[in-house]
Amino acid sequence: MKIITAKTLGEDQQALVLGIFEENTDNYKSYSKELAQELQDALKEKMFSTKFGEIYSTKMKPFHKIVVIGMGKKEELTIEKVRKLLGKAVTQVKGAKLLSFSTNIVELAASHKKLSEELVGMASAEALLLANYSFSKYLSNDKKEKMKDIELVSLQWTHAPAAFGEGLKKGRVIAETTNFVKDLVNEPAAVVTTSYLEKAAKAVAARHPMINVKVMDMEELQKEGLHALVGVGKGSATPPKLVILEYKGAKSGPFTALVGKGITFDSGGYNLKPTKYIEDMKTDMAGAAAVLGTIKAAAELGLKKNLLGVMPLAENMVSGKAQHPGDIVRAYNGKTIEIGNTDAEGRLVLCDAISYTEANYNPEIIIDLATLTGACVVALGYYAAAIMGKDDSLLEALTKAGIDSGDRVWPLPFFDEYQDWMDGTISDLNNVSMKGKGYEAGSITAGVFLSKFVEKAKWVHVDIAGSAYWSVSGDYVQKGATGSGVRLLMYYLLDQSGK
Ligand code: BES
Ligand code: MN
Ligand code: ZN
Repeated sequence: MKIITAKTLGEDQQALVLGIFEENTDNYKSYSKELAQELQDALKEKMFSTKFGEIYSTKMKPFHKIVVIGMGKKEELTIEKVRKLLGKAVTQVKGAKLLSFSTNIVELAASHKKLSEELVGMASAEALLLANYSFSKYLSNDKKEKMKDIELVSLQWTHAPAAFGEGLKKGRVIAETTNFVKDLVNEPAAVVTTSYLEKAAKAVAARHPMINVKVMDMEELQKEGLHALVGVGKGSATPPKLVILEYKGAKSGPFTALVGKGITFDSGGYNLKPTKYIEDMKTDMAGAAAVLGTIKAAAELGLKKNLLGVMPLAENMVSGKAQHPGDIVRAYNGKTIEIGNTDAEGRLVLCDAISYTEANYNPEIIIDLATLTGACVVALGYYAAAIMGKDDSLLEALTKAGIDSGDRVWPLPFFDEYQDWMDGTISDLNNVSMKGKGYEAGSITAGVFLSKFVEKAKWVHVDIAGSAYWSVSGDYVQKGATGSGVRLLMYYLLDQSGK
């Protein structure tokens, strides 16, 4: 999709999308008397209101379609509402099978004093490109024809172009890498294996001289003692790996490590998942994909920070070589873990990745992203990832990045009372809680387990089990993979590097 800016509303595009605030309902009189009259009538007959998100559609030359979208009260406009409005615009125009549109929504939004022009630019490119995404490669041509991408959007913009243009550029990089992540997550597990993700990581590294990639295979993982990771992956025909991307964007300074759960399929192992729980488990590598995407975006934007992208990759399967419930493994940091449940595999691959990263790279900050618990989906649904940790300033910074980016996070408490809930009986730890009924506070106890593998780094755990894959569509997010984590981390990292 090409995005251009123009001082006036373009008339070369197929559709026109107009915003309207609640405050000024006699809008567009000077633009077109005919349209103003029609709008006035529609408002009077309550076919349309200027409340946020309301849509009115009409036909008028020279456009094939004119869509008017209520923007709600000016004072209540937020950057996320701008994304949603543009997402609605894309959906409307795409739904009418048109290929281009012109809009004044962004121009109107920027007249709102609280929103910086650069942020408006970023959010605009993000919303447009994310909303235009579809995973259609497996559809035959006649079906594909029905959902053609929008090719051109003309944004009315009368202010100075510099900051807005800068924002558009950043937003495009962030959105395109988010869409790259969605492709990886939507692709079936038969395609996206551990070696497929290894190749994807190497391909990203090959395009950017500032990225080095290191891959540890099964043999090396065993030799180095990452037995928790090996245990999860050893039942699969595609062996486990640890992929580490090193991005050197700054001359000096410590690493920020991003660690992503990369289970290419989570059958549950011998604690096999039942029908209704197993079908979407190709998405259990969304954390690793988001980490890869973030490193890619950081490199494309030349971010002045040192980053590590750590991807523990494994497929959790059933076979004669798979681990058993009741097995005890020794993790990289020396702690022993009883496998109380083979389906609690995410924490096993992450704990080794975290302690290996800390011991070998000494990062200042570790952020892990994982589709870790069903309990997180129950607690928060799709519209926020859960965050946990003990470093208040890091939690705060991520919360801010979540609000600005629309890729939201919500804190779960890390109460002292939970700190021994993952202790084992015949081993140091158990991978499932042995206290109470076993399932209480499932997302928190998973986080507590991970915390036992962090020595001195500032650490935060982000559970994206709900936010990474939606069964409903949003305004600029489709059903299916969302690329959750990329925008969150990019906004956080841009904040940290002073933009
Ligand atoms: N990958 C799942 C968590 C998950 C569930 C992600 C639904 C996305 C949607 C994870 O490996 C898992 O199976 N967790 C178990 C943990 C339990 C056995 C302690 C769960 O949540 O049931
Ligand atoms: Mn599982
Ligand atoms: Zn899993």
